[in-house]
Amino acid sequence: MSKKYYIETLGCAMNVRDSEHMIAELTLKEGYEAADSLEEADLILINTCSVREKPVHKLFSEIGQFGKRKKDGAKIGVCGCTASHLGEEIIKRAPVVDFVLGARNVSKITEVLHRPKAVEVDMDYDESGYAFGEFRTSLYKAYINISIGCDKQCSFCIVPHTRGEEISIPADLILKEVQKAAGSGAKEIFLLGQNVNNYGRRFSGEHPRIGFTQLLRAVSEIEEVERIRFSSPHPLHMDDEFLDEFAKNPKICKSMHMPLQSGSSRILKSMKRGYTKEWFLERAAKIRELVPDVSISTDIIVGFPGESDEDFEDTMDVVEKVRFEQIFSFKYSPRPMTPAKDFEKQVPEEIASKRLTRLQARHNEMLDEMKSVRLDRVYDVYFEELRPGGYVAGRTDNNWLVQAKGSEELLGKTVRVKIVEASRLGSIGEVIA
Ligand code: 5AD
Ligand code: SF4
Repeated sequence: MSKKYYIETLGCAMNVRDSEHMIAELTLKEGYEAADSLEEADLILINTCSVREKPVHKLFSEIGQFGKRKKDGAKIGVCGCTASHLGEEIIKRAPVVDFVLGARNVSKITEVLHRPKAVEVDMDYDESGYAFGEFRTSLYKAYINISIGCDKQCSFCIVPHTRGEEISIPADLILKEVQKAAGSGAKEIFLLGQNVNNYGRRFSGEHPRIGFTQLLRAVSEIEEVERIRFSSPHPLHMDDEFLDEFAKNPKICKSMHMPLQSGSSRILKSMKRGYTKEWFLERAAKIRELVPDVSISTDIIVGFPGESDEDFEDTMDVVEKVRFEQIFSFKYSPRPMTPAKDFEKQVPEEIASKRLTRLQARHNEMLDEMKSVRLDRVYDVYFEELRPGGYVAGRTDNNWLVQAKGSEELLGKTVRVKIVEASRLGSIGEVIA
């Protein structure tokens, strides 16, 4: 009987991709199969996130529970960003853990598996070790890494310490990977990096220096590719050439993630974001002007050290002006190894909570206003998933989630859908013709 793995993936799309990578290695090299439950697994992997403190706390109680539930002899591995950041401390605090594998080291999964109490968290990058795993969570969509790490050093962010310096993957490798994925049914390609539109600044060897805009163009020239998405771009690198390509290239989906973090230029400076409130507003207005039906999503941190009421009002002002279609909002969480944790004037928890509640409540109101715009309109929806009750789910080009009555035969197809019900979180549509 083959061995079974159980994997829990926390955090961002990058982690989803890293999990796919590990599954591919385990399947191809060790003959593993997916377990139906944790209790049945021979190998339990937790792919962790360390961007905020809460999930790190939760990790240790989870390891404890998994340790009790696992079958005798099953191994537990902690992977991803918290593995990079805490390293061997994880095994010291939780001896039930068999190995620790950093976010930059996931291709070594089959190696650490056989080394008792292995801790593999080095920050080197060896191109030959970069295998694009053959496993995809979805048949219809492929996540493809274009760069690893981040050089930005935003003062609140632990990622440069967990994922290391930023290195772009050579374009010819990416394009081969896209070709392979699209040729096997993934008509939607999702390009991934911590800072995607900084692509091409540094490679690990001698490679043709193409930038992100050129890479987008090259991906779109692959015939089988129908849709291109990418995450996350940095507002600072949204130059005109990039925005023009975004607007004009019909294969690039019209949804843009623009992580604001704060609307106050003073706070942005202290965060080391490299742009001002005005720059952000101008870029967002330009995107809306070039692509009227665009969706803009964002990340916002409230309660960053030194954030005054006035600074927070600046954030609310940007929210009013840009009218984001989606906001991921967080209370500032002090992280080890980041300068901001030592800044003066840390904002009290109650104030940060109040600001977060106000931001989210106002945004919900805005979403309620926006959703009516969708009603009765017809969108192209690319269906990717079966849902209970005879439904299929997919997304519009501008990233609205839509469900419609239907079955397998709609999966992997782009279909005209009329929206008949719209809510904040998603819409119900009817397939037409
Ligand atoms: N505290 C709160 N939120 C954070 N993020 C990154 N670091 C922190 C932190 N220390 C948020 C940012 C980023 C998103 C992925 O997580 O908004 O864009
Ligand atoms: Fe963190 Fe800033 Fe890099 Fe994003 S751009 S990963 S927030 S350091």
